[in-house]
Amino acid sequence: IKRIGILTSGGDSPGMNAAIRAVTRVGLNAGLEVFGIYNGYKGMVEGYIEPLTSEDVSEIVNRGGTILGSARLPEFKDIEVRQKAIRQLQKRGIEAVVVIGGDGSYRGALSLTEMGINCIGLPGTIDNDITCTDFTIGFQTALETIVDAIDKLRDTSNSHHRCSIVEVMGNRCGDLALWAGIACGAEIVVTSETGFDENEILDRLRDLDLIRKKKHAIIVMSEKITDVHQFAKKISLNTGFSGRATVLGHIQRGGSPCPFDRMLASQMGEKAVDLLMQGIGGQCVAIRENKIVAYPIEEALVMPAMSRKPLTNLFERLG
Ligand code: F6P
Repeated sequence: IKRIGILTSGGDSPGMNAAIRAVTRVGLNAGLEVFGIYNGYKGMVEGYIEPLTSEDVSEIVNRGGTILGSARLPEFKDIEVRQKAIRQLQKRGIEAVVVIGGDGSYRGALSLTEMGINCIGLPGTIDNDITCTDFTIGFQTALETIVDAIDKLRDTSNSHHRCSIVEVMGNRCGDLALWAGIACGAEIVVTSETGFDENEILDRLRDLDLIRKKKHAIIVMSEKITDVHQFAKKISLNTGFSGRATVLGHIQRGGSPCPFDRMLASQMGEKAVDLLMQGIGGQCVAIRENKIVAYPIEEALVMPAMSRKPLTNLFERLG
């Protein structure tokens, strides 16, 4: 192959830029021409595609966000929309594409591969919800942001005998909440895997207050579980703590990627180019037991989620 494209799709994540840089530089150094496709699949359909030089990806390894822009395009599941995208690629002689994003973006990559454009997926999302990989690009940086915020909340909760509920992202995956809960010494973690029993939590808070004489309590809760502001009011009414809720929101998606995410993105970018140069498509890159590997996207999309039991057990044993 001679020409490859690269795009970022779905919610952005810290480390996407490091991946763009790696794909571009490894590609150029291997004699390929590399094209940036802007705003995800939307830019592919609209033809917003420009060549990338080595200089274009200078000074970005440490920057959050994505220089290519990102978007969600649900219409990409329509074959006519994909045909239009493929025509845009063919016009420019682009034979293969690296797609950085989450599982929705992987589905698009698989469909394009089936239509003759080899695609390789890289896991770019803070959610850590791509089951074939131990870590997604951006998860560790988001975790650092959360830990930093909770450490600060702990100070003020302690001074005021409060219970702080911190709502974190993760979509339907509890990893950000569970890892942050362990790293911050939270009293309670609530995720879609743990389930949410309001009365049980109120009981535990009363116990922490009256029996264990805790000065504060921290609850780390995954998003999409309950209205945390309402729940904070219930805590104030039904326990000795006054409840306060903090929704960390999109702050979790920004910031300079931590060294782990920069390394992961660079290694995964390299692997993606190597696979495309071998004429391989329809695969996604992963890290498993510290090794950079690749799986067919079809397989990756149906892999059962890693068991979170050991970490859930650890959390309980630290309580
Ligand atoms: O997938 C990344 C993510 O940040 C999720 O954690 C969150 O549920 C969602 O995207 C938020 O999406 P948006 O940026 O469209 O509000």
